[in-house]
Amino acid sequence: MFMLQPIGFVRSPYQETAAIPKGLGAKHEAEGILEVLPEFEAGLTDIDGFSHLFVIWAFDRSDGFELIGRTPADNRPHGVFATRSPRRPNPLGLTVVELLRREKGSLHVRGLDMLDGTPILDIKPYLSTIPKESLRRGWLAEAEVTRS
Ligand SMILES: C[S@@+](CC[C@H](N)C(=O)[O-])C[C@H]1O[C@@H](n2cnc3c(N)ncnc32)[C@H](O)[C@@H]1O
Repeated sequence: MFMLQPIGFVRSPYQETAAIPKGLGAKHEAEGILEVLPEFEAGLTDIDGFSHLFVIWAFDRSDGFELIGRTPADNRPHGVFATRSPRRPNPLGLTVVELLRREKGSLHVRGLDMLDGTPILDIKPYLSTIPKESLRRGWLAEAEVTRS
């Protein structure tokens, strides 16, 4: 077992899940603030130079999990670990956001897809070394072809 504690909370324009864009082609451009708690603020030292961040957070309002389920992107069922479903055995979310600016413990960001008040578990600089041509998008690429 692991004990995790929030390092902060998301200030997002979304009060309910229905308001968050979903499905194929959904764009996540919502702006908000990652509010890091004062006791962890020193950990943000030198973060200003990064354009994008990984945010690891808790689906604190999801209910249980299902190993096979449907998503708004496709009408076929998929395994939970082949999706980004909130209903997972360990309810962890991962979102890449653009860092707009920092004011002390407040990171102003764009690209939120989480509810207001969501607990933040970790923040890391976004770094990718995988060339675009090496990436495969599995069932999602098939769903995009079918939809177009
Ligand atoms: C499909 S998940 C993807 C989240 C993240 N980008 C990921 O890949 O882990 C995003 C959805 O989770 C739901 N959601 C957002 N914040 C939540 C929270 N705090 N608790 C439970 N569900 C949440 C909303 O329905 C939102 O549309």
